[in-house]
Amino acid sequence: MAQTLADGVVPHEVVDRTENRWVTAMALMLLIMLAIVVVTAITGALHPASNVEVVDARTLHLQGEFVESNLGTTIEPDGSATVRVLAEQYAFAPHCIKVPADTPVRFRLTSADVVHGFILPDTNVNSMVVPGFVAEVRTKFAQPGEYTMPCHEYCGFGHHGMWAHVSVVPKEQFAGKTPLERTSCAGH
Ligand code: CUA
Repeated sequence: MAQTLADGVVPHEVVDRTENRWVTAMALMLLIMLAIVVVTAITGALHPASNVEVVDARTLHLQGEFVESNLGTTIEPDGSATVRVLAEQYAFAPHCIKVPADTPVRFRLTSADVVHGFILPDTNVNSMVVPGFVAEVRTKFAQPGEYTMPCHEYCGFGHHGMWAHVSVVPKEQFAGKTPLERTSCAGH
């Protein structure tokens, strides 16, 4: 049974033991990373991108939620805000978005052509925008502030120039704004 091995040959028991240790180490690393994802999702309000909600990308401009007159920020009966934005090569419509501070905000985006993305740095807002689907992200801005919202999914030659401007204004100030002012880049 116990045969003498040539010099430099590692006995298979040693190989097995080493491999088992590494498999255990890798499994532990995976478990730790999975735990980090779950813990940050719960404590940091991070969540997988969007919901699965379909929309007909061919008729966006003609009918339904994403017609031009319906884009921008509206206040719901419960006091929360809904922001509807259309992404298309190479712009977000509207280009300037005003939202109230200290208010639950729901971003609803869809694409008229290819896959885009949007992100608000230092917030939980980060999603892809896939044609045929509505990307929805909920957030809340504690303080007034200015955000640049770039497209962060390569969508063609004009990708680098595709961005929108999000302006968080005090709640009282927002209430007095007309629909036109809510999508205007001028002033506050
Ligand atoms: Cu749109 Cu990149």
